Amino acid sequence: MVTDMLKTKDILDEKDKRLRLVSKEVTFPMEKEDIDHINEMIEYLTNSQIEEEAEKYDLRPGMGMAAIQLGIPKRYLTIVHEVEDGFDTYVIVNPKIISNSVEKIYVEEGEGCLSVNREVDGIVPRFARVTVEGYDTDGNQIRIRAREELAIAFQHEIDHLNGVMFYDHIDPKDPFKGQNEYRAI
Ligand code: NI
Repeated sequence: MVTDMLKTKDILDEKDKRLRLVSKEVTFPMEKEDIDHINEMIEYLTNSQIEEEAEKYDLRPGMGMAAIQLGIPKRYLTIVHEVEDGFDTYVIVNPKIISNSVEKIYVEEGEGCLSVNREVDGIVPRFARVTVEGYDTDGNQIRIRAREELAIAFQHEIDHLNGVMFYDHIDPKDPFKGQNEYRAI
């Protein structure tokens, strides 16, 4: 069966309270429906980062998506990271950060999210490097080491699985707190 392509309107907006749910652990074997969703997420994220495709299908650009952003409260996420010669695609189920750097960084132009359709100013401190452990879709244990932008993407998406939005990390009284303490990327 051919599944429909994901559209921007399929992604929950920040006003949707489901984004505040703590997603549930996935059991194996995974349901076919979830595998289909993962493939749709990858397709969306990849196309959204290719200008012509993004324009053609009216996609908002993004590099990561957690299942809850489609209203599915299950612990899996996908990241499509643009690299020199294309895209690196990551799928991880029941992910956990098992170690992190002491050093913290932040996205200078501000972090973005497919569920947040507005500019949000402020510093979101993130670990510069993380090691994430979890499972692939077949239930094999995997371990991913990520740094810089990719490390931020993992932290951002894992937050979604816990009902946390990126701006929860911004100090409302002093949004640029940490500017001199952390490294901008
Ligand atoms: Ni997000």
